[in-house]
Amino acid sequence: MRQLIAGNWKMHCLAAEAVALAQGIAAGASGIGAELLVCPTALHVAAVAQALQGSNVAVGGQDCHQAKQGAHTGDIGGPMLRDAGASWVILGHSERRQNHGETDELVREKTLAAVEAGLTPIVCVGETADQRAGGQETETVGWQLAGSLPKPFTGVVAYEPVWAIGTGKTATEQDVATMHAFIREELVRQFGDAGQIIRILYGGSVKAANAASLMAVPNVGGALVGGASLNAEEFLAIARAARAG
Ligand code: 13P
Repeated sequence: MRQLIAGNWKMHCLAAEAVALAQGIAAGASGIGAELLVCPTALHVAAVAQALQGSNVAVGGQDCHQAKQGAHTGDIGGPMLRDAGASWVILGHSERRQNHGETDELVREKTLAAVEAGLTPIVCVGETADQRAGGQETETVGWQLAGSLPKPFTGVVAYEPVWAIGTGKTATEQDVATMHAFIREELVRQFGDAGQIIRILYGGSVKAANAASLMAVPNVGGALVGGASLNAEEFLAIARAARAG
């Protein structure tokens, strides 16, 4: 299956910068066979969607509420993201889990809400440095998968070791191979045959220089890219290193 290269722009870019970044990516994306996605702040989803119209780059949100609508000050519902032009949403990112106390149960509810709204969820899992140092990385990820994914699950999983996010420390190919094989096993255990085709992205300090070797690891279905996705040329170089079919 072709790989998905998703840019998580996090809390970066004012409106004009977001539109310019989207235009830069769209301009170089036409010959790229990998599936492409950018996830700006929700505030800029509509403008970025408009800038990407007619291109092969999709737009997603970075979070959505578990309810469709209601008295939830400051929150954003899945149907609102969809209405603004998003077709994807990142859920349960470690920064949401850490900064906003999101639990596996909440992530599962948000995933259901996202699917209900017509969005494809990218559900993030990953261990901290302490958990890895304690030899608990697979156990941690196993619990996150069991708790965060509803049945059936029609989205994508992203493995993002917390210690590799924004640190320049990439997991080794061996670490990635071991964890992605474990995640595949868990997905098959949870979902049977359907678990064989769920894409598993790797995220954590992915850049053009390491993309080709990471994308070649078995069970890697693409990348979730933070910092390097804020530069159109760098993001496109990562996308060119991905599998087109
Ligand atoms: P970096 O690529 O900046 O390490 O961020 C990864 C990430 O958190 C993507 O969701």
